[in-house]
Amino acid sequence: MDKSSKIRKCLFPAAGYGTRFLPATKAIPKEMLPVLTKPLLQYGVEEAISAGMGTMAIVTGRGKRAIEDHFDISYELENQIQGTSKEYLLRETRDVIEKCTFSYTRQREMKGLGHAILTGETLVGDEPFAVILADDLCDNAEGASVLSQMIAVYEKYQCSVVAVEEVPKEETKKYGVIAGEAIETNIVRVNDMVEKPDPQDAPSNLAIIGRYILTPDIFDILKETKPGKGGEIQITDALLAQAKEGKVIAFQFSGKRFDCGSVDGFVEATNYFYNKQK
Ligand code: G1P
Repeated sequence: MDKSSKIRKCLFPAAGYGTRFLPATKAIPKEMLPVLTKPLLQYGVEEAISAGMGTMAIVTGRGKRAIEDHFDISYELENQIQGTSKEYLLRETRDVIEKCTFSYTRQREMKGLGHAILTGETLVGDEPFAVILADDLCDNAEGASVLSQMIAVYEKYQCSVVAVEEVPKEETKKYGVIAGEAIETNIVRVNDMVEKPDPQDAPSNLAIIGRYILTPDIFDILKETKPGKGGEIQITDALLAQAKEGKVIAFQFSGKRFDCGSVDGFVEATNYFYNKQK
């Protein structure tokens, strides 16, 4: 494989307000809400590391400083617990910090996921990259992480890849929904995609979840993408332009995904990880 096509960077859009979790998210970024003792964003960063990425590019916004502090050394705290029985509690986070670098940019206005990803161009540059939406928490107890599975698909097809799962028809209006032609088990070449369609307009029940691999031409497409659903610049609309050229693969991953952007999904994830660690 050409060295330049290796995926080295993972982009985390993390500027959203998290209004569904108020009052918890009044002063705390929603990405920092913990499932058990670990913030959502750290699960995402660990998934990116497991998929071989060493640069975490985080698109933040006002009120998100806790994210930068989290992925840094806390001298006072570390000094306080050094040599005590509590030292191990920080070890996992320190391991993460040592395995990768973090860079940040701010999205000043909330104009949609497509706009957030475009804001990250300055951190990503001209190379293919991954995107993780930290409130979609994924786990594959049996093997490779969802992002690692997607890297293998990218290496084969060398185009954008979106992770999809089947959802009940009545839920299509919560997701980007794809349609296309099955070319292998669990692999569809996408020829249509619609952002949050009503069930009667949905082209299928295959919903995009918060994991993407994008080729860098997406940035130029996003610059031309007009506001779509909800008046926001949608990554789904930009991806449709690539899909029309046969350059988007939808991948039905192995593993579980929790919608931690909703209270129900958050509680489900908490129970799942609690039972897993017992
Ligand atoms: C975003 C995307 C949507 C995708 C979803 C996955 O929506 O716009 O296409 O299906 O993430 O979580 P959001 O959940 O930010 O409204």
